[in-house]
Amino acid sequence: MKKILGFLGLAALTLSLAACGNGDAAKKADANQLKSIQDAGVIKVATSADFAPFEFHTVSNGKDKIVGADVDLANEIAKDLGVKVEFMDMEFNAVLTALDQGKADVAISGISATKERKKSFDFSDNYFVPEQLVVVKKENVDKFKDLESLADKKIGAQKGSIQESVVTSQLPKAQLVALAKVPNLIVEVKQGSIDALVLESAVAKAYVAQNPDLAIASAPLKSSDDESYAIAMKKDSKELKAKINAVIKKLQDENKISEFVEKNSALAESQAKK
Ligand code: ARG
Repeated sequence: MKKILGFLGLAALTLSLAACGNGDAAKKADANQLKSIQDAGVIKVATSADFAPFEFHTVSNGKDKIVGADVDLANEIAKDLGVKVEFMDMEFNAVLTALDQGKADVAISGISATKERKKSFDFSDNYFVPEQLVVVKKENVDKFKDLESLADKKIGAQKGSIQESVVTSQLPKAQLVALAKVPNLIVEVKQGSIDALVLESAVAKAYVAQNPDLAIASAPLKSSDDESYAIAMKKDSKELKAKINAVIKKLQDENKISEFVEKNSALAESQAKK
């Protein structure tokens, strides 16, 4: 009898160990990621603060500060996790690399959750649906009413952004000029060294509001489903992702994200008038 019980005990032990295998081990690693943010008391956010109204620099009381709708969103997430936020500002091209290398816990930077990017990263639910727009000098706005008129022009896009492929796929004969920071592209359009710049809706509107010599041309670029913004995390961030999605859902139910976008668009515009 003793022997049988012993055998059963062993069998039970083996079974429970086996159960601990894949599923549970993965869950444990993931729980650690959420836990490591909570243990550190800070969530490190990689961003490229050149993208009003989502993330941009402002000076308040003589001090430089990063503000924007993504910043408000990050603060809500940090509040929910009970930690502080630390923003790491870099070129957009480096944002996902910083996350991949573990220098940042998440990347929040108006990032489009494309199929390609989803192969390497986890993404939260979408929190903003953009549209692709063409920004030109105001004096040229009537020249660029269709894609034909842009076909062989010099068109700017941010390096590493999906706007590069919007240009190469929708305007294959155009000359793509890719620069690291959006404000530099704005300067190029104003100077006339490039003819147009592809930017996403709220961002295009914010920069046009700041620069009265610019305008949005009516040339219709196509937008696609996988351009919506989401927060990027390392692969297998199941628990962290669930937490972040709950915050996004709550904010969306309360219409808060559009409020963040509106408030920060107004801020960006008033800053330009100073
Ligand atoms: N949504 C585009 C992308 O993911 C552009 C994002 C640029 N973001 C920024 N903060 N500059 O490729």
